[in-house]
Amino acid sequence: MISWKRKKLFSQENESRFNEYIKGLCATEQMQRLREFDHHKQINRYDHVLLVSFLSFALARRWGWDDKAAARAGLLHDLFWTECDGTVHLCIHHPETACANAEALTGGLTKKERNIILSHMWPAGRHLPRCREAWMVDLVDTFVTVLDLTNRSQKYNRMLAEAVPAIN
Ligand SMILES: [Fe+2]
Ligand SMILES: [Fe+2]
Repeated sequence: MISWKRKKLFSQENESRFNEYIKGLCATEQMQRLREFDHHKQINRYDHVLLVSFLSFALARRWGWDDKAAARAGLLHDLFWTECDGTVHLCIHHPETACANAEALTGGLTKKERNIILSHMWPAGRHLPRCREAWMVDLVDTFVTVLDLTNRSQKYNRMLAEAVPAIN
């Protein structure tokens, strides 16, 4: 599934750097509330965004891209507190809701982080990815969605929970 060996993906350096980027955000009430919502039926939204965030971070770091923006925007890309009702309206508009919520939570996103969140549903939605990190998070989100729907994301979430204390 994931081509890297577990050891490499969950290296000490990856863990501590990821932990550093996201620890302040994960502890907030707004993020913790995501646990209350089902996402793609099999898991909760908190676990979904964590996996998108970590895999995006790890890929960005491996390729020398902006790993901080990938981690933060990956974590915040589905920050909304309503159930997924499967409507086209929600599908198209939730990135805008998530972006507004993320702005309020962080006190200000970077331009890149904003674009990553707004465009993560492309080609659905109204925003085009405008940087390589946005294209990547769009693809990683799709990939994790497939894992969620096929019951394969839980084991990676368990590894993540063991490896990165800030997310618990
Ligand atoms: Fe989304
Ligand atoms: Fe998502």
